[in-house]
Amino acid sequence: MEAPGSVARKRSTIAALDIGTQQVGLLVAEPVGDRLEILGVGNAVSLGMRAGRVCDVDKMSQAISIALLEAEDMSGTQIYQVSVSVSGDHVQGRNSHGVVPIENGEVSARAARRVIEAAQAVPLPADHRLLHLMRREYIVDGQGGVSDPVGMDGVRLEANLHVISGCESALSNIIKCCNKAALSAAGLVVSSLASAEAVLVPDEKELGVAVVDIGAGTVELSVFVGGAVVHTNVTPVAGLHITRDLARCLETSMAEAEALKKRHGAAIGSLVDRSVCVEVSGVGKRPPRVVSCRLVADIMQARLEEILELVAESIIASGYHELLTSGLVLTGGTAMTPGIAELASEILRMPVRIGEPREVDGLAGEIDDPSWSTAYGLLLGLREQDMAQPWRSSLGERMLPQWVRRKWRNFSKTQ
Ligand SMILES: Nc1ncnc2c1ncn2[C@@H]1O[C@H](COP(=O)(O)OP(=O)(O)OP(=O)(O)O)[C@@H](O)[C@H]1O
Ligand SMILES: [Mg+2]
Repeated sequence: MEAPGSVARKRSTIAALDIGTQQVGLLVAEPVGDRLEILGVGNAVSLGMRAGRVCDVDKMSQAISIALLEAEDMSGTQIYQVSVSVSGDHVQGRNSHGVVPIENGEVSARAARRVIEAAQAVPLPADHRLLHLMRREYIVDGQGGVSDPVGMDGVRLEANLHVISGCESALSNIIKCCNKAALSAAGLVVSSLASAEAVLVPDEKELGVAVVDIGAGTVELSVFVGGAVVHTNVTPVAGLHITRDLARCLETSMAEAEALKKRHGAAIGSLVDRSVCVEVSGVGKRPPRVVSCRLVADIMQARLEEILELVAESIIASGYHELLTSGLVLTGGTAMTPGIAELASEILRMPVRIGEPREVDGLAGEIDDPSWSTAYGLLLGLREQDMAQPWRSSLGERMLPQWVRRKWRNFSKTQ
């Protein structure tokens, strides 16, 4: 019998599903000691998502099925449960605070539990469901930065948490897409936290760092100080907007603009030679045009500046900007734009590096770019920090009967 919470039929394998606006990525891995060996990788074009929200359940579940079959074939395992990413501007993070008196002058395990309960009693928006409850610190008689207060002397115990919630219907639509693809969502994890897990080293979290995952539909920000998450934010302006700008300005199709961006794109126009040109096909029967790569970069720079300024505003509004000693780590597919680290460093006035999944074993070459950070971070898991695991709800754990899965699998293999 399978152990509860195991993610795939092979007891030691785990699987993660990143449902992005542009790409669905599914990874299967086997933990070996304290490392993860990637056994299977599946991906598919994501057609049913818009800025982190499902807009077509059928198309989305088909994309998940394609990625699932690919990952199963490659790994030689069957996957039934996955940890799933959640994003979109419906995802909201806020800090909360709780206080309890310390009885008998020493913090007991019960007091430590009660102060967390007091801190988590924040009202969520009416249609929201709790996703994560991250402990930032305990405070004993005004002394902050305490990670385990049990046994400490004092009279007043406080706790600071970071609470993340998401819109109930947006979350249940994601679970529905997984279920339609014969997968059970074992956990819902906010993308920004998963990406941070994949790209950061513990020292960066301790010293203070911001991680920005710039995907196709969303920019996901998470800020860490003193080893804990202190701020999260999602903005729905990202790579797809850059592609759209190129398509509009250069009067070409979205597909051509996307290819142009990947082949000739750059984040800083002034570093691109004006004389280097490229032919761009017209829409419909319009003739192709020759455009300068400098123009392509100028168009991209304008949108990237807007995106990075929104990131800067959010970091400043969080009040933690002066504590980010380790600067900023950029990840997500758009982080592959040449020159983006330099542009971000200029706008945010801090050191910037590009982050991609680190310390990967097995099929590492398949996921060695920033667009895989969320999926790999899901595998690494966030459970140690996440006390509530409220996503382990009855809905998330719904299992499909074995015979339904078998039937569905046989059916989809013949399609
Ligand atoms: N070499 C490149 N240069 C510039 N942009 C790139 C490059 N490669 C990929 N991108 C862009 O990265 C984006 C896709 O990134 P990613 O796979 O991280 O997004 P996603 O996870 O599907 O979306 P989201 O997280 O926003 O829902 C697309 O907009 C794509 O055009
Ligand atoms: Mg993404």
